[in-house]
Amino acid sequence: MRTHNNGELRIKNVGENVVLAGWVAKKRNLGGLIFVDLRDREGITQIVCKPENKNYPILESVRNEYVIKIVGKVIERESKNKNIPTGEVEVDCQEVSILSEAEATPMIITDETDALEDVRMKYRYLDLRRPSMQKNLILRHNITKAVRNYFDSKDFIEVETPVFGKTTPEGARDYLVPSRVNPGKFYALPQSPQLYKQLLMVAGLEKYYQIVKCFRDEDLRADRQMEFTQIDVEMSFIDEEHVYQVIEGMLKKVMKETKNVDIEIPFPRISFDESMDRYGNDKPDTRFEMELKDITELVKDIDFSLFKNTIAEGGIIKGINAKHAASKYSRKEIDRLTEEVKKYKAKGLLWSKFENNTLSGPLAKYLTPEVSCLLMEKLNMTEGDIIFVVADTKNIVNASLAYLRNLLGKELNLTDPNKFSYIWVNNWPSFEFDETEQRYIAAHHPFTSPKDEFKDQLLTHPEKCYSKCYDIVLNGFELGSGSIRIHDQKVQSDMFRAIGLTEEEIKQKFGYFVDALKFGTPPHGGIALGLDRLAMILSNSPSIRDVIAFPKSANAICPMSDAPTTVSEAQLKELKLEIRK
Ligand code: AMO
Repeated sequence: MRTHNNGELRIKNVGENVVLAGWVAKKRNLGGLIFVDLRDREGITQIVCKPENKNYPILESVRNEYVIKIVGKVIERESKNKNIPTGEVEVDCQEVSILSEAEATPMIITDETDALEDVRMKYRYLDLRRPSMQKNLILRHNITKAVRNYFDSKDFIEVETPVFGKTTPEGARDYLVPSRVNPGKFYALPQSPQLYKQLLMVAGLEKYYQIVKCFRDEDLRADRQMEFTQIDVEMSFIDEEHVYQVIEGMLKKVMKETKNVDIEIPFPRISFDESMDRYGNDKPDTRFEMELKDITELVKDIDFSLFKNTIAEGGIIKGINAKHAASKYSRKEIDRLTEEVKKYKAKGLLWSKFENNTLSGPLAKYLTPEVSCLLMEKLNMTEGDIIFVVADTKNIVNASLAYLRNLLGKELNLTDPNKFSYIWVNNWPSFEFDETEQRYIAAHHPFTSPKDEFKDQLLTHPEKCYSKCYDIVLNGFELGSGSIRIHDQKVQSDMFRAIGLTEEEIKQKFGYFVDALKFGTPPHGGIALGLDRLAMILSNSPSIRDVIAFPKSANAICPMSDAPTTVSEAQLKELKLEIRK
């Protein structure tokens, strides 16, 4: 139907007769000449039609988003457009045919759009017609292609695992599917293929990967969807170092082949505890410094009741330094930041500026000259800096300052989107204490191996145990997570008991899996990376929805198809289900 796409023609094609097809992106009538920007996936080509052309009336009748076919001759443009690759030429139209008419679209099909998210989602096929969205999907395809080629070259095999299964242990709510042939029973959609991939290791497959859909019923956010895709990996006869090497190699290839960026490997590593200490969270954005400094010890003797009370109650005091930013933050601006940290339960935000060689702000008046000096030294404070300090429980201090650090990083333009800062966060505690359930829960999942020195302490000192678990973090996002698994039945049994599962519950939930461990299990481990998150970061998109063709909205609906919908009484009856009002 066509000889070229719309991103293809160059000055070397001048004089050729071509056939093009595509959508009318723009039509202008200038001094009797009609100019049409013809768009397809590859780009835009300008078509020009003279009034004497017999097809002139047809081209005059087309409107934006009509699909047309053009036969014409490539000519050199008089006024060249340096902004597009085809900008040196245009096609002098000889014949036009309208392949499909279009109604006025509810949104304009351009990269810059002010269309509301609802409209974009309802007319997703039009939103996806925008070149920037197509670029995102092409990038995603290229990532997937590089990943598949990489694993293939390393002798991994891709194995598909079931979508209809039994509950998996990732800790979110399951999506359930009723079984018609087994009334009253439900399949759970996989939150991840965790148990299957471990069973593939028991089966002797040795090196597995899968680009796989996972389903989790959890609150949706900018980097979360209920239905998302993992690059899922598992290997036998390996240790942590192997996983790091394999994933670093994969990401290096992906970065080179999709972004033409050479990243340095190996990636830096930081322990969970150190990350909490220096950045206040477990997914530090290491594109910039602004580290949290603990000043509890330093200010413990000054006459300030907030500090005294915080310390007496076992809390801590930490600060961050926004370098050269004193003049950027007026009192009003600081009030805004204070409101922001309150979302993280901080009761307030102390601050101090160092300008004209003097410390000012509410904190300054409590500081003795000696403590001032020590504080400035600790926070590396120089002329023009502003520091922010929070005193509270450790969790609140870390959470609020980590948030503030990220916010200031953005506001002060420290988060260069063209910089890709990967870091491993490892050495995680095995357990977290769940205050509502009043029991320990697995910090990763209950198949994660404790470090060898803690294997015997899972039941006696769960709070002290650390695991062979690692996260890969990119620019402040948790990109992936994995661990070396337990392959010893006794340790697995201790682990289940440590998180409060009874023998009955273990059998009922994971019986088939525990049984499998009895038949010769190789030491194994793996990781899963969020493909959507990777594509989101590499395309510099503000939301994960921008790299998913048909995503769900924040309240878990599809505005285009209106899913989820009610079902007929007959369907419910067949499933032996009743809706409770
Ligand atoms: P985890 O639960 O940490 O580990 O998930 C791994 C990675 O999957 C991505 N991810 C998500 N992406 C979008 N929307 C979501 N709702 C969502 N949830 C998770 C993240 C995350 O880092 N089975 C283990 C892995 C293993 O141990 O091998 C697992 O699923 O990028």
